[in-house]
Amino acid sequence: MPESADFLVIGSGVAGLRAAAALAAHGTVLVLTKAGDAGESNTGYAQGGVAAAVGDDDSPALHARDTEAAGDGLCDAEAVRVLVTDGPAYVRELASWGAAFDRDADGRFALGREGAHTVRRVLHAADATGREISRVLWQHVSALGRVRVAADARAVGLLLESGVCVGARYVVGTDVVEARAAATLLATGGAGRVFRETTNPPVATGDGVALAWQAGALVADMEFVQFHPTVMSVPGTPRFLLSEALRGDGAWLLNVHGERFMARYEPAGELASRDLVARAMVKEAARTGAPVTLSMRHLEAEWVRRRFPTLAAACRERGLDLAFDAIPVSPAAHYVMGGVATDIDGRTSLPGLYAAGEVACTGVHGANRLASNSLLEGLVFGARAADAMLGAPAAGVIRRPRRRGPMPRGEAGAAIPDADAVRALMWRDVGLVREAAGLTAAVATLDGWRRALVAAGRDAGDPTGALVTVAWLMARGALDRTESRGGHARADFPARDDLHWMVHVAESTHDQDS
Ligand code: FAD
Ligand code: SIN
Repeated sequence: MPESADFLVIGSGVAGLRAAAALAAHGTVLVLTKAGDAGESNTGYAQGGVAAAVGDDDSPALHARDTEAAGDGLCDAEAVRVLVTDGPAYVRELASWGAAFDRDADGRFALGREGAHTVRRVLHAADATGREISRVLWQHVSALGRVRVAADARAVGLLLESGVCVGARYVVGTDVVEARAAATLLATGGAGRVFRETTNPPVATGDGVALAWQAGALVADMEFVQFHPTVMSVPGTPRFLLSEALRGDGAWLLNVHGERFMARYEPAGELASRDLVARAMVKEAARTGAPVTLSMRHLEAEWVRRRFPTLAAACRERGLDLAFDAIPVSPAAHYVMGGVATDIDGRTSLPGLYAAGEVACTGVHGANRLASNSLLEGLVFGARAADAMLGAPAAGVIRRPRRRGPMPRGEAGAAIPDADAVRALMWRDVGLVREAAGLTAAVATLDGWRRALVAAGRDAGDPTGALVTVAWLMARGALDRTESRGGHARADFPARDDLHWMVHVAESTHDQDS
């Protein structure tokens, strides 16, 4: 069943919707989104807020400095410059479209603080900023008329003609539809669901990376996964993120003896960058033999409940009081810094195919994303990709410094796993702290699973096929990178190695050794 639009956007989070808002002025836009509820996305769950240099004590240069420090030496300087310089205009635009960011008594944006930010710069709508941004973008896009949204529509393959992407194949119900377009944007979000423990909702399975990989596009930096430190871990209940904004507003991390411990690991204490806090928590839990907790008991209770109503309600559902109780927390997979390699205008290595938001790897986050830079990324790079999509299809100029070395291969004839087996393996062997033996075994197992899935015709378009492809790319990157940097920590290579590893590694199916 063929259909066509001027522009095809796959994904309806902040990046896809901001792109659709720009594209609608120039033609018809088809937005595919795989959940029945088109609002289901990582965007909708975002809590802390959106970072932008709008405060009197702030500047794009300061925001760039913090972004690059968190990125641990691997940020793309030009992508950072674009993000921090253009960012304030995009958040002001969103406010002009109706986003109800919290304001102070003088009507100025009330700015929150989060880890590794030197000043307050996080605009927020209480503790449900993503829901507010989604609401406003949906309202804006719906009013534009030329945007059609297909829900329950899962993209399962990219259409290529003479090396140019001309659309995508998607499944809706039992129908397979070919949607053709002059330009196609991947805005499929993250891949937290590749891990057993994650903050991400079920849609975040990395489909866009798998589709781009299958089509031959370059994929970069997949070893860099951010593990958020403070995810509520109450046995028998789903994991739930407790925003970094809590620590920004004074929450403490405590060990089993009720002692603050972060300063013993990091000078910035609870406000060190996420990778550092997450690893310190795990060390402290191992040292004391008990999980760590997050506490706001020393703060004014009514203020805590008013400032963080969503988080207070989530705690209440689990029989806890955010303002009084020590809440058990531990790290979980949260954000993937790697993805489909793009230039700063969203062009991938495949002409006609663009990527923006969490699925893309512009290099803006380097090895570790600064808190609240992701919603901003979606706005800024979603809009830039839309601009690029108006031009003739062209491949992005993507630095590609080196090929990956030979990797372990799996057994032929492996059994096809279920998703839980993939997630358990990734959590155990490719999680917060990695080492060669576990990674080598993981790459081999994933390679065997992948070959079995491909042989069964269940490649990137299949949910398990996509999950395994993404997991395999992450594990390969993690085994290859023999250093620790940002979100990637190796127990066997604990130091950062600038001599050998100040590089992004991008690979595509064209590099495969067999
Ligand atoms: P998403 O918002 O994830 O949207 C992806 C879309 O693609 C979805 O609509 C999905 O259904 C669709 N899709 C996926 N695969 C397919 C397919 N095969 N076919 C069709 N459609 C598909 N960042 C911040 O900056 N600040 C925060 O406060 C913050 N808090 C967070 C809290 C939580 C709990 C989580 C999970 C993330 C948080 N983040 C935060 C990160 C941020 O929310 C995401 O990185 C960002 O929203 C990603 O936006 P996106 O548009 O790239 O993707
Ligand atoms: C949070 O609120 O802690 C999440 C912020 C982010 O992921 O940037």
